[in-house]
Formats: sequence, C-alpha cells, structure tokens
Amino acid sequence: MHPMLNTAVKAARRAGTVIVRALPDVDRLRIETKSRHDFVTEVDRRAEERIIETLKGAYPDHAILAEESGTAAGNEWQWVIDPLDGTTNFLHGFPQFAVSIALRHRGRLEQAVVFDPLRDELFTATRGEGAQLNDRRIRVSRAVDLDAALLGTGFPFRESDSVAQWVRLFERVACQTSGVRRAGSAALDLAYVACGRLDGFWETGLKPWDMAAGALLIREAGGLASDLFTEGDPLDSGNILAGNPRIYGHMRTAFADVAPHGTD
Ligand code: IPD
Ligand code: CA
Ligand code: CA
Repeated sequence: MHPMLNTAVKAARRAGTVIVRALPDVDRLRIETKSRHDFVTEVDRRAEERIIETLKGAYPDHAILAEESGTAAGNEWQWVIDPLDGTTNFLHGFPQFAVSIALRHRGRLEQAVVFDPLRDELFTATRGEGAQLNDRRIRVSRAVDLDAALLGTGFPFRESDSVAQWVRLFERVACQTSGVRRAGSAALDLAYVACGRLDGFWETGLKPWDMAAGALLIREAGGLASDLFTEGDPLDSGNILAGNPRIYGHMRTAFADVAPHGTD
C-alpha cells in the first residue's frame, strides 16, 4: 500500500473508533446546529482531531481542508477530510455513516479512503492503481440499462436547496430504474457505486469533503464521476453525477434538459 494511503487508513480507523465508541451514548451528546438541519457534535470534532493529528504527524507540511476545522495552509499536497459523513444518521442510530479522507496534489486526487466503521468496510484507492474493498479489488457494476439499475441520490434538506429541481431530476429516472435509494452518506453512496452495489448516483449541493474520496474510488473502479450539469469537476460545483460508464451515460441523457438551480 502506498505510504500516504497507509497513513490515511490509520487516520480513518482512529476516527472510526471514536465514532463507534460514542454510538451507545448518542442520546447524551451535545448537538450544535451549524445551519438549519445541519448538525455537528463533539464526535465529529474529536474524530476530525484524530485524523488531523495522524496526518500531520506523518506529513506536517501538507495543507488541510476539513469540514469542521476549515482550511489550514501548507504545501501543494492537501488532505480533504469529512470525519463523519452521515451525522444525521449517526444521531438517530441509523447505521449508515463513514469517515472520508482524500489527498490531492495540485488539485488532482491521488489517494482515497472511505471507512464504514460499523461494517468494518474499508474502501481505498490510489490514482492509477485501482480501488479495493478490504484489500480486494473492486469494479463498478456491469449494468447496461437503467431498467436493471439501482440508483442512489441525496434529497434536498437545506433551505437553500431546490426541491423543484430535485423533483425534475427524479422524474427523469424514477420509473425507468429498479429503484432509487437515499441512504444519507454521500461518501458511502459513492463507495457503493465503486463496488457495484449502486449503478449510479446523483446529488447537488455537496461539499468537496463529501465527494473527494468517493470520486477517486469510482474512477479507479472503472466508473465516471463528474459535474451533474457540465461534466466538469464535481468538487468545484458540489453537483455530482456518477456511475458505471453505461448507466452514467443514460443518466446524463435523462437529465440533459434540467438546468442547474438558479439558472432556470
Ligand atoms: C451529508 C451527507 C448526506 C448529504 C449531505 C451531506 P454530513 O454530510 O453526505 O448524504 O445528503 O448533503 O452534507 O453533514 O453528514 O457530513
Ligand atoms: Ca459530509
Ligand atoms: Ca461530516
């Protein structure tokens, strides 16, 4: 395993331990509201501290972009961190959340880890070297038609989100696919596309730390991940379309006439 990936795995496992240990006492946690429907707990913060101290211990000069503590300057290497993706699920004891850590070099994704601490599932990728789940090589699914596809998405829940736009996107695929799931952790949803559990995924309004690791996992597993509307970098816009190449293509065609929120 690449040494930088190895460090990221160590960091993700430490964060996972913090999260799992806190789960039985979740009812007693102090919950802060960052904005309406957007929560943070001391567990998110503690998990993030463990990650940053692990990464900084090995790579003190690297820059950091982390959900709870923001940006720390450094050199051209940057760690993109979501210490607990799926906080709302975690707060409800709904067992679908993950730690997400990616490394970018001059903006290009190099390493990725998504760790589900409840199932002990570790998704990893290094650019150019493929993607793994618990050290076994993974590939995106072989589904060729939307009919047989299971898609993932994220529902709008922030006041700034456009419900109307989500409905328009949903309408284009709803009755053409086997099903659409909203599991509540974008990082894990993307990891599921990478290992073929989902055939495609879309969501708008995400942050770089929700998607960075998942996007590299998908590309290294033979899939595509890009901006939902422009085919640019989804980390720039927050709007992502991902899938195996066939399903990605069908979804892109199905969504072609839906304009980005704010431009229609
Ligand atoms: C959230 C999850 C969720 C997505 C939200 C994200 P958080 O991350 O990824 O699936 O729909 O947009 O904010 O806040 O739990 O880290
Ligand atoms: Ca997140
Ligand atoms: Ca988070």
